[in-house]
Amino acid sequence: MKLLKDRILKDGKSFEGGILKVDSFINHQMDPILMKSIGVEFVRRFGHLPINKIITIEASGIAPAIMLGYLLELPVVFVKKTVPKTMNNMLTASVYSYTKDKTYDICVSTDFLTKTDQVVFIDDFLANGNASIGVYELVKKAGATMLGMGFIIEKSFQKGNERLQELNIQIESLARIKTLGDNLIEFED
Ligand code: G4P
Ligand code: NA
Ligand code: NA
Repeated sequence: MKLLKDRILKDGKSFEGGILKVDSFINHQMDPILMKSIGVEFVRRFGHLPINKIITIEASGIAPAIMLGYLLELPVVFVKKTVPKTMNNMLTASVYSYTKDKTYDICVSTDFLTKTDQVVFIDDFLANGNASIGVYELVKKAGATMLGMGFIIEKSFQKGNERLQELNIQIESLARIKTLGDNLIEFED
């Protein structure tokens, strides 16, 4: 997606160790016009699938997910990263965060994810894919079906895409970055 790649080159900040900061348009301040274009691109890529619901994970996945949900007129469920103490009907999975070097639980209510649901998962980043695989497990536990996964930015030098290919579903990333270094951002062709 050219518009997105141009914006990453213009406003993204890359750091040694393979971290990309996109705080000025995705992760802190957000650009709703760009986010709408991202939603339109996800419609182009996933619109043919028999989806009845969009799933994402808080916090940064919510904006692109709701743009897609708005355009397809479908509900959006966000998986939570803190398990409420006083809630029944919760499905949980645990996720190891590479960047934070810790494991956390994610959860979703069976009120909002059931066996008749056919979902696409949307998130901001695909790095190692741990969060995505955790959400995939939740979807399976609910008896629902994951039809595809879409990411705004993929760091293709990390293992995520390779791991998700094993799920045999449609995986889409709108910008695939092959190299991130000190002041260096290179996309896959
Ligand atoms: P993984 O899910 O692919 O295994 O990722 P990992 O544990 O490594 O990443 C943890 C968090 O860091 C996720 O957000 C992920 O989106 C984000 N992330 C990974 N690499 C980068 C990067 O290069 N730049 C930026 N900006 N984010 C990155 P989170 O902190 O769990 O959630 P959120 O609240 O920001 O959505
Ligand atoms: Na995220
Ligand atoms: Na993040």
